[in-house]
Amino acid sequence: MCGIVGYLGHRRALPVLLNGLKRLEYRGYDSAGIAVPTEDGLYIAKRAGTVAQLEALLAGVELPATSGIGHTRWATHGEPLDRNAHPHTDASGRIAIVHNGIIENYSTLKAKLREDGYTFRSDTDTEVLAVFIGALYEQYGDLELAVRTALSEVQGTFGIVILCADQPDTLIAARRGSPIVIGIGDGEYIVASDATAIVEYTRSVFYLTDDEMAIITREGCQTKTIDDIPTSVQLLELEFDLERIEKGGFPHFMLKEIYEQPQTFLDACRGRLLPHEGNVKLGGLRSVEPQLRRARRLILTGCGTSWHAALVGEYWIEELARLPVEVEYASEFRYRNPVLFPEDIVIAISQSGETADTLAAVREAKLRGATVLGIVNVVGSSIARETHAGVYIHAGPEIGVASTKAFTSQLAVLMLLALYLGRMRHLSAAQAQDIAAEIRRLPEKIQYILDHAEHIRQIARQYAQARNFLYLGRGVNFPIALEGALKLKEIAYIHAEGYPAAEMKHGPIALIDENMPVVVIAPRDELYEKVLSNIEEIRARHGQIIAIANEGDTELPHVANHIITIPHTLPLLTPVLTVIPLQLLAYFIAVERGLNVDMPRNLAKSVTVE
Ligand code: AGP
Ligand code: GLU
Repeated sequence: MCGIVGYLGHRRALPVLLNGLKRLEYRGYDSAGIAVPTEDGLYIAKRAGTVAQLEALLAGVELPATSGIGHTRWATHGEPLDRNAHPHTDASGRIAIVHNGIIENYSTLKAKLREDGYTFRSDTDTEVLAVFIGALYEQYGDLELAVRTALSEVQGTFGIVILCADQPDTLIAARRGSPIVIGIGDGEYIVASDATAIVEYTRSVFYLTDDEMAIITREGCQTKTIDDIPTSVQLLELEFDLERIEKGGFPHFMLKEIYEQPQTFLDACRGRLLPHEGNVKLGGLRSVEPQLRRARRLILTGCGTSWHAALVGEYWIEELARLPVEVEYASEFRYRNPVLFPEDIVIAISQSGETADTLAAVREAKLRGATVLGIVNVVGSSIARETHAGVYIHAGPEIGVASTKAFTSQLAVLMLLALYLGRMRHLSAAQAQDIAAEIRRLPEKIQYILDHAEHIRQIARQYAQARNFLYLGRGVNFPIALEGALKLKEIAYIHAEGYPAAEMKHGPIALIDENMPVVVIAPRDELYEKVLSNIEEIRARHGQIIAIANEGDTELPHVANHIITIPHTLPLLTPVLTVIPLQLLAYFIAVERGLNVDMPRNLAKSVTVE
């Protein structure tokens, strides 16, 4: 779930591990720890809290070790306490393990180990795995065999790295369902749960696949399945620069990522949008073109913000391709008994490409014979690998836990997909040309909104102490109301709800009084007049209205308390613009409330558990 880093090379391991853990902080975590070998066994330091607190604990500690492992934990089993932090050790204390994921059969294993006289110091599933490996090691005297045997008996998900005091020059890494990437430098290896911890040491990496393990020594790195069948790896060259994973002068990653959107939106369209031909080229979908032509229905699935992108995609694809679309939470899809026809196309949308619910939905849909596509950010991630084909959104690493740039890049790809499917069906080249020309103007329009952020900050100041917010939108902007509310909940901890504007009178209107700020998304489109009526209803009950309006709107300033303007675009494309002020509003309110925007409480960047 959270962060793993392991090192074996010529540098002192401790600073490399701490540095790696800092790079992984963005994932959201509650505890941190390290283990390195010494002459007298393993040296372990771990605690609940931040990497900075762990570093303080280690102040003045000089350790010559050139190998070691580290972890940032996001608790799944047992509270975030010092004793539950990783690394965990076996009974002898000579084997240490860091683990991301969940060992599902840990209680059965724990009961068996207890019968054999083993005791436990933590509440974690991970410690059970450590003790189990230790017990097998005692029996076989062979660490690798012990690890393989243990892993073939555990159920659940793991990304692990193991260090043993008896073999200080070996690291064993393995994965099932939780990513492990191994960087190969000059005489050194860095193992991590994602490439951000590696990129400053080397760009040459490979990813372990499910049920694969790596035995890393000073002589080299050997990979095999946990059934002991040798595997070969595919080396990749990391494409992102270090500057891209640093804050680049912004106070928070989230703000930096909000400001990257003119660029990232462009990147998602680059080379794909052919405005002159009125067409779209999506190389990643070439292999499934016949299926896309035959398709009678699309099912879009994802979680959280990615699910909101899917809802926007539904409007777009139905409108432009006249193809029925269903949108479903991945967590529901996986456990329902979904009716799927062989010509259905299921599209999983995920920034991380590792979200457990979405991955499970992918597997379920594949099992039922559907063609399954991915719209993913992280290259080489599980969802990217397991889908039949797909389109990367190319937004670069998204560090802020609250997703912003990935959302607008998902929208970019969904719009391209709608045009692509449309052109296969009813959409004329001329219609596509008009839309494509307007898509190309969106980056500068996003920039315009960003350039006027100060006004949004002023509004945020006034409402930072509000206890509730309502977000209203209609049509293609209804999902944006949901997304605006989610952003506020996630980072400002203010209760917020998104509603289709017309639904307000069926219930939520009861909440409206002078203390209720209502954000209304009201661009000039075919539903504008209707939204104006909804605003009047709020006004009559003294609600505070913050309207997102087109530049030059003459009516809204009379009825709303605040106006945030966005440039004109085609009504269908407005979500790409209306979401930007909502991201900024949530950001400024959270900052005003003194909250840690990049690492909101209880949240993790990549949710690899159910
Ligand atoms: C977004 O701000 C959230 N942190 C969350 O809802 C997220 O979108 C969701 O967990 C899905 O993640 P994914 O796109 O990586 O699959
Ligand atoms: N399940 C393990 C625990 O609760 C690992 C959690 C994680 O992935 O950080 O400690």
